[in-house]
Amino acid sequence: MTDSAPEAVNPVVPRPQTPHRDLLQLEVLPDEAQLRADIERLRKERNAVIIAHNYQRPEVQEIADFVGDSLGLSRQAAKTDADVIVFAGVHFMAETAAILNPEKTVLLPDLRAGCSLADTVTAQGIRDWKAQNPGGLVVTYVNTTADVKAESDYCVTSGNAVQVVQSLPEGVPVLFAPDRFLAAHVIRETGRAMDVWDGACHVHEAIRPEDVQGQQAAYPDAELLIHPECGCSSRILGAIPELQLYSTEGMIHRAKASPAQAFIVVTETGMVTRLEHDVPDKTFIPVSRTACCEYMKMITLENIRDALVNLEPRVTVPADIRALALKPIERMLAIG
Ligand code: 13P
Ligand code: SF4
Repeated sequence: MTDSAPEAVNPVVPRPQTPHRDLLQLEVLPDEAQLRADIERLRKERNAVIIAHNYQRPEVQEIADFVGDSLGLSRQAAKTDADVIVFAGVHFMAETAAILNPEKTVLLPDLRAGCSLADTVTAQGIRDWKAQNPGGLVVTYVNTTADVKAESDYCVTSGNAVQVVQSLPEGVPVLFAPDRFLAAHVIRETGRAMDVWDGACHVHEAIRPEDVQGQQAAYPDAELLIHPECGCSSRILGAIPELQLYSTEGMIHRAKASPAQAFIVVTETGMVTRLEHDVPDKTFIPVSRTACCEYMKMITLENIRDALVNLEPRVTVPADIRALALKPIERMLAIG
């Protein structure tokens, strides 16, 4: 792949004066200091670890022990020695942690934190698909339920989908679910033909090429950081074929390595928080303030505190489903 960044260092674009949290108009709870102190005390008492996705609210990212992408969170969940895992993310992520840690208590502070992409595919749907394509290898994005993983041969995240598909034996049909935009990216990068499920994330699908172009016009020196789940990616790549796409963690590496001083962040807005934290000397511009995952934002300091007090709500996976779902996750973690 060719690098898309300009060779010369761009003129510095000043950071917006308004903190990202205010830009998003996320409310600040009046008793935040007390909540932080409670969480600090409880996490020690419970021997708990708090792991948070890059799309979480700024104040949740601040108190987390680890913040990362889906792949990084799976890795953290696989290696933690804490008794309790508080998952600041969405349901399928907590399920993945429970599959990897059946003996630990996995808490998801708000069980309504689902995922529109995971909702596009069911285990029965995958069984029917396999029946129509005998001998096919099922590759599913980690954004799926445990039942769907149990029907899969390999899991992938946006951080390793290309590597996993590259590792598959030649000449075998590949059934890829559920994100059709990530699938298009994998096909482009690997040249491998795949059957693709027709799913998408409502947040990334709604980001339009016009949103990207509008920000490019406003910040002409800024480099694009585009997530492969984005609906705009195919049209933008049509215009700039050498452009790379990045998982959320890949965006951090790129922002650090690039000579550019400013970046248009084409994914869910929470990513701006993480980038500003890890790359403090550069400027990050959200592609659109409406690219906000309401599921991710359901996790708050308040419900994290309550989850640590009550050791509820828990996420568990039945043993038979867990045994089947573990295999594709372990294969993914072994590959990349
Ligand atoms: P990554 O963090 O793996 O890039 O995934 C993005 C996402 O949409 C998670 O829900
Ligand atoms: Fe699911 Fe999209 Fe939210 Fe990620 S951003 S959790 S894919 S709905």
